[in-house]
Amino acid sequence: MKKGIILALTLSATLFASNTQEKSQHKIMKIGKESAKTLFKALEPQLKKKIKKEGFAKASEFCANEAQKLTIEVNKKLQKGVSVKRISLKNRNPLNAPVNTNEESILKAFDLLNSSSVKLKPLIEEGTNSYKFYKPLLIKKGVCLKCHGDENTINKDAKEFFNKKYPNDKAIGYKINDVRGAIVVEINKKVIK
Ligand code: HEC
Repeated sequence: MKKGIILALTLSATLFASNTQEKSQHKIMKIGKESAKTLFKALEPQLKKKIKKEGFAKASEFCANEAQKLTIEVNKKLQKGVSVKRISLKNRNPLNAPVNTNEESILKAFDLLNSSSVKLKPLIEEGTNSYKFYKPLLIKKGVCLKCHGDENTINKDAKEFFNKKYPNDKAIGYKINDVRGAIVVEINKKVIK
């Protein structure tokens, strides 16, 4: 086994801290999965519709203008003490960068495990006042590559828009099955009690 994989596995074992009761873990997983799904459902179908009706350039503008607003809307609807966001090591929107070294390490662990063909599962991190549930996001469809792919796959008009809108865009060069990032659900410990 490669050194990096052992590191990553150790990391995930630490994260599933054994002092987190099994019952709590179950609850964290449930809220995490549901909240991640709510965000996904707020974004993906709308994006799909835009692409179909108006093409990739317009759909890119839609993402740029609406993704954050829709995320705020979803957060308003979630129960108190629960919030959701997307993060990526190669983020397009600076607002989607990891906020600390834990978030960064988990994204790196997902990358490492995925590149070693380990099937990714959500992870739980225990903090002082809250838990974080991390759901890995993979590039599963060719359509993602139209806006996140390499020279051969990216849509030219979309690329032109990204160059103007995001001077530090890192979210390109992806291939099918790459880890694009994660959905992070933060759950206050009071919610789990
Ligand atoms: C029409 C262009 C377009 C398509 C298609 C597209 N994206 Fe994006 N994506 C964007 C834009 C623009 C952003 C930055 C705006 C934001 O989310 O705040 C973004 C951001 C993201 C982010 C947040 C991290 C970051 O880079 O800021 C993730 C995760 C993501 N996309 C995943 C996907 C996946 C998975 C697919 C395929 C199902 C996909 N995208 C398809 C345009 C696109």
